[in-house]
Amino acid sequence: MTSTLSIDAPERGVAQAGLHVGIIMDGNGRWAEARRLPRTAGHRVGAEAVNRVVEAARRAGIGTLSLYAFSEENWQRPQAEVRALMRLLERFLTRESARCCEHGVRINVIGRRDRFRARLLRAIERAERETRFAQGMLLRIAVDHSGRAALERAAALLARERTKSLREAWDRSLHALSAPDLDLVIRTSGEQRLSDFLLLECAYAELYFTDQLWPDFGEDDLAAALVSYRGRERRFGRVSCAQMGGRS
Ligand code: FPP
Repeated sequence: MTSTLSIDAPERGVAQAGLHVGIIMDGNGRWAEARRLPRTAGHRVGAEAVNRVVEAARRAGIGTLSLYAFSEENWQRPQAEVRALMRLLERFLTRESARCCEHGVRINVIGRRDRFRARLLRAIERAERETRFAQGMLLRIAVDHSGRAALERAAALLARERTKSLREAWDRSLHALSAPDLDLVIRTSGEQRLSDFLLLECAYAELYFTDQLWPDFGEDDLAAALVSYRGRERRFGRVSCAQMGGRS
């Protein structure tokens, strides 16, 4: 592992129509433990849920889907588990990028990139290159991500260079294509916290928590989250029309 961080200017992404939904995929370990399986089995089935949900999100017309796959803190897990997660990620990028391309899904891996093995880095770069013309949905996979650390890197960039805005510096610090703020964050497994996920982009996100463990999450669960989201009034600090008494 090296500690230097190279932050290149990102290519600007195609503006995505539709919602930006983030998912904190939690509960793989508990899913496996409930079946007396190793935790890595939970991650393996969790990776199958990723395929299912990417497809469902595309069908639902979501513009950007951001999945939290590995946090900076996750390096502290047992080495075998970390290796298994990295392998699953590499396998997803290698096996699924052709299908993503076919279905108009553009892949962008966001987070630090200086602590990956060369093979994984190559798989990331290949998947991003191969899907770069896809315009249906932007799929962002957060790996080695910490919202707070990304903000610190963005602030350092702002101070060092003439980066125009905090948001641009944030995108660069994450190797992220430009995307709108998150509209909705879903977290599975009954936990109710953000765990340092995309802090800057979550400013006005609606939060949706479900007890479903990630490996069991599917199209119907995504649909239920979207129904809940659509039933909410997003005021962004303003008052609602009803409170205005019809006056504007
Ligand atoms: C949290 O569950 C989940 C993770 C840290 C990893 C998420 C990874 C995947 C879903 C598979 C690989 C990803 C891709 C994009 C192919 P946990 O292990 O913390 O569960 P627990 O809280 O029940 O222990």
